[in-house]
Amino acid sequence: MTQVIVALDVDTIMREEQLLTQLKDNVTFYKVGLQLFTAHGKRAVDLVHKHGGKVFLDLKFHDIPQTVAHAVKEAQKLGVYAVSIHLCGGRDMLRAAAEIEPRPKLWGVTVLTSMQDRDLRPLHPHAKVASFVKNLARLGWVNGIDGTICSGLEVQYLRKALKHLDMKFITPGIRPAGAAANDQKRVMTPEQAAELGIDYIVVGRPITHAADPLRAAQDILSSMKHAAPHSLETR
Ligand code: C5P
Repeated sequence: MTQVIVALDVDTIMREEQLLTQLKDNVTFYKVGLQLFTAHGKRAVDLVHKHGGKVFLDLKFHDIPQTVAHAVKEAQKLGVYAVSIHLCGGRDMLRAAAEIEPRPKLWGVTVLTSMQDRDLRPLHPHAKVASFVKNLARLGWVNGIDGTICSGLEVQYLRKALKHLDMKFITPGIRPAGAAANDQKRVMTPEQAAELGIDYIVVGRPITHAADPLRAAQDILSSMKHAAPHSLETR
């Protein structure tokens, strides 16, 4: 079943607590990311736990192997469920992180969902997003990473191209039909993600910026319930 992770991209503990109070009966997973963690650190993580939620700490680790390994150890002390790591940090960095025991799940960022081929070109002149995502996903998998963060648009392609790897997928860039894409470029609806049997979707602004966040979350959840994971047999 596809799980929703609500991205708590807010600036105050008060706003975080409002959202948790509104959503906790419907949502288990919450992303604490750069904004909230930079502003409030451990307090922001503890608050999710106090409300019975699980934390995806999305700090997108990318540094030398030892620094990242130490950060993963600290994340374990925070009691978070998963942390994100940039797959383009390379084999040694990924291995150093994966070897920490015990540790949270490691979810690897491929290419940000705010980027498309055109945005990748100045960095990697001959790369296309899809094949770049595939190479990074494989690199993560062979070095002990537990899940691949990409757009839902790449999931079918990756399942085919890397069919011997039983990957978990975490997909941001989720937008209900008709919702503003904002800065996201590789987007998919929650129904499409559920149809694809994607493991986790990360949803921020369509819920946190809604006039009624609870209603927005419930609408997303019920739209997903009605979407059958028809593509599973084509994996
Ligand atoms: O508001 P929105 O739904 O676009 O939020 C998506 C969330 O997913 C943001 O918190 C963003 O940092 C995160 N994310 C992403 N693309 C990635 C990895 C994480 O948009 N590749």
